[in-house]
Amino acid sequence: MEYRQLGNSGLKVSTVGLGTNNFGGRIDADRSAAVLRQAVEVGINFIDTSNSYGRGLSEEYIGRVMGEIRSRVLIATKVASAMGEGPNSRGTSRHHIMEQVEVSLRRLQTDHIDLYQIHFPDSSTPIEETLRALDDLVHQGKVRYIGCSNFAAWQVCEAIWVSRLEHLTPFVSVQPEYNLLSRGIERELVPLCQAYSIGIIPYVPLAGGFLTGKYRQGEAAPEGTRLAGNVRAQERTLTERNYAYLSKLEGFAAERGHPMAELAVTWLLGNPAVSSVIAGATRPEQVVENARACDWHLTPEEMKAVDALPRDRT
Ligand SMILES: NC(=O)c1ccc[n+]([C@@H]2O[C@H](COP(=O)([O-])OP(=O)(O)OC[C@H]3O[C@@H](n4cnc5c(N)ncnc54)[C@H](OP(=O)(O)O)[C@@H]3O)[C@@H](O)[C@H]2O)c1
Repeated sequence: MEYRQLGNSGLKVSTVGLGTNNFGGRIDADRSAAVLRQAVEVGINFIDTSNSYGRGLSEEYIGRVMGEIRSRVLIATKVASAMGEGPNSRGTSRHHIMEQVEVSLRRLQTDHIDLYQIHFPDSSTPIEETLRALDDLVHQGKVRYIGCSNFAAWQVCEAIWVSRLEHLTPFVSVQPEYNLLSRGIERELVPLCQAYSIGIIPYVPLAGGFLTGKYRQGEAAPEGTRLAGNVRAQERTLTERNYAYLSKLEGFAAERGHPMAELAVTWLLGNPAVSSVIAGATRPEQVVENARACDWHLTPEEMKAVDALPRDRT
């Protein structure tokens, strides 16, 4: 496994991390524990979750094995999703953050969160209030580093400058959707992160599994997979255009003796602003396969060659 600094912090995170939004939703406690143990076994030290995944079960299942693995992993969790009915049960107010950090610490069975991320921007709360609450948590030792997710570039920039002006703990990372099919952040967010040394943690790096090549054109989604039975997700992802692009990517990977999933991960790591690629998994074997991507480094020429592959149907 390889490790990179998380943004300009001193924290070293594994270049391949583990996303756990399947925990408690698609896989039970025992399978989640097996996936987690496998991740630690292959040197993954960066585990991403949220207070909302599996309605809290993701954090709870991670917490159940925390006793075994705490010293070897960094836990990144999130706050902002609706956790109840009331008007104060969501968002990034001081009230909600202070309440939810205690819930997350309890479920995770730990005394600190390594990276606490704002899951979504909250237009009803001033960013000063959010950053000050997070800063207090850092000073209390409950949180070590802070980051954000799903923020537009201008919102990250605003947060950086508010932290600087108010002498508050700054965001060290952003977590946006980013994969070979979804490259919208390259216009604004990636250059911002490069300029300010903010670490990028791409989510859905495998496009929910499509970029592993497991879904074949003209065939039903394999039983038990994420897209099986999810007609809307199939309509969105299993398009002729995506399949045409996928076959070019698969050809590129196969010519170099690698499976498609490795290309999806190593291509993201070709961007030095990317700190950790948090691939999700439902089985330990998938974790092993995805972790192998860190042994394959694309040359600058290969990065250009991937970029040159036509993304429209041709
Ligand atoms: N911040 C946010 O708003 C946000 C949003 C979404 C996700 N996330 C984070 O990002 C993480 C990753 O996203 P994701 O899990 O949704 O999507 P993903 O990483 O793009 O895809 C994960 C899925 O790909 C399949 N897979 C993984 N490795 C495989 C392999 N080697 N061979 C075949 N199939 C493989 C599995 O599908 P099967 O289930 O079919 O086995 C797995 O559930 C999440 O777990 C979460 O931590 C954050």
